[in-house]
Amino acid sequence: MEAKRAASDGLRPGEAALSVEPVPAPAKLYFIGRIFTPWATREECPRQGDLHGPLCRVEIAETWVSALVGIQSFERLQLLYWMHLSRRDLVLQNPRQGGEVHGTFALRSPLRPNPIASSLVALERVEGASLFVRGLDCITGTPLLDIKPEHCPRA
Ligand SMILES: C[S@@+](CC[C@H](N)C(=O)[O-])C[C@H]1O[C@@H](n2cnc3c(N)ncnc32)[C@H](O)[C@@H]1O
Repeated sequence: MEAKRAASDGLRPGEAALSVEPVPAPAKLYFIGRIFTPWATREECPRQGDLHGPLCRVEIAETWVSALVGIQSFERLQLLYWMHLSRRDLVLQNPRQGGEVHGTFALRSPLRPNPIASSLVALERVEGASLFVRGLDCITGTPLLDIKPEHCPRA
């Protein structure tokens, strides 16, 4: 967890955060690379990626480069990534200031207990350890968790 903060810090009307620490479970994730996009801040990012959006580079860590074999035959990939700047204690959220309040699990907000995001991306090309894709919505430097092919191999 991030450093403990008062549950009410930075909340909008109707929002709620946990007042106790969740019980930690022994999940262990490997960051398999990093995503480089044109956006330096959360405010600059689109809310969702666009398959015709700007070209982004996904850099795979040296250890995992062999796991890319065959990936160039797919036009579309699902990327899972870790929204490392997110607070993780919100249970109710008001995504648009003054809007309707929803439970965290009824939203695609990056603010969640395990800040895993996913996007369908268009794979343009593969160059060594780099995948060039369109369809992302995260800030540059966001850690990558996984890549899964969508089952539409190139003709
Ligand atoms: C609404 S989320 C959608 C993410 C993903 N497409 C999904 O649906 O799971 C995208 C927003 O997350 C925020 N964001 C981007 N990168 C982030 C990061 N590394 N840490 C925390 N928030 C981030 C930006 O405000 C961006 O507009």
